[in-house]
Amino acid sequence: MSAALPVVVLVSGAGSNLQALIDAQTTPGYGARIVAVGADRPGTGALARAEAAGIPGFVCAVPDHPDRSAWDDALARHLAAYLPECPRGGLVVSAGFMKILGPTALRCATVLNTHPALLPAFPGAHAVRDALAHGVRVTGCTVHLVDAGVDTGPILAQWAVPVRTGDSEATLHERIKAVERDLLVRTVHRLATRGHTITDRKVTIP
Ligand code: GRF
Repeated sequence: MSAALPVVVLVSGAGSNLQALIDAQTTPGYGARIVAVGADRPGTGALARAEAAGIPGFVCAVPDHPDRSAWDDALARHLAAYLPECPRGGLVVSAGFMKILGPTALRCATVLNTHPALLPAFPGAHAVRDALAHGVRVTGCTVHLVDAGVDTGPILAQWAVPVRTGDSEATLHERIKAVERDLLVRTVHRLATRGHTITDRKVTIP
C-alpha cells in the first residue's frame, strides 16, 4: 500500500471541515494524512481541534509581518517545513481559511479550497449572504483548486443545496456546511489516491 499523501490544512474558524478530514483520515485507504494545521490567527476552534487530535498547529498572522509579501513568504516556509516533497508530494487544503494565498505559498503545493456557493456565482467572503440576497432558489458548495484569484481556480466538485423559504444566512450556511464537509472529504480522498490533470480549466481525476 502506498504511503498517505501529507496534507496541511489552513483554517480561520470553527474547523468543522477540518474535523471531518481528521475523522476521515482514520479510514483505511483514505490516502491522505494531515501533518499540520495552520491558522491566520491564534485561538481558533480549529486549532483546538488539531491539538485535541495530536496534530501540530502553527499560526501565521498577517499583522505579525511587515507586509503581505513577507506574510506570504512566512506561510510558504511553514508549508515547506511540513511538506518537504512538495510541490508534487503533498496537498494544502484551505478549509475556511479567510486569506488569499500569495504567489510564494501557491508555488509550494497544490492548494484546494472549499467555498459555500456554486462558483463562479458568489465568490468572496460573504457567499451565503450574497446568494440569499440575490434570491437564488438553489445554491451549494464548491471544492476547487486555488489560483491567484478570489475563488477563481478550476473546479473539482460541486453539490447543490436548495434554499428554503425563511432561510437565514445562518440556517442556510449550516445546511451547506453539512454537505460541504462530505464533499471535501471525498474530493481530498480522490485527489490523494488518483491524482489529477487539468486541460483548459477542466480537471480530470482518473
Ligand atoms: C465553510 O463554509 C467555508 O466554505 C467557509 O467558511 C466555513 C468554514 O467552516 N469559507 P469551518 O471553520 O470549517 O467550520
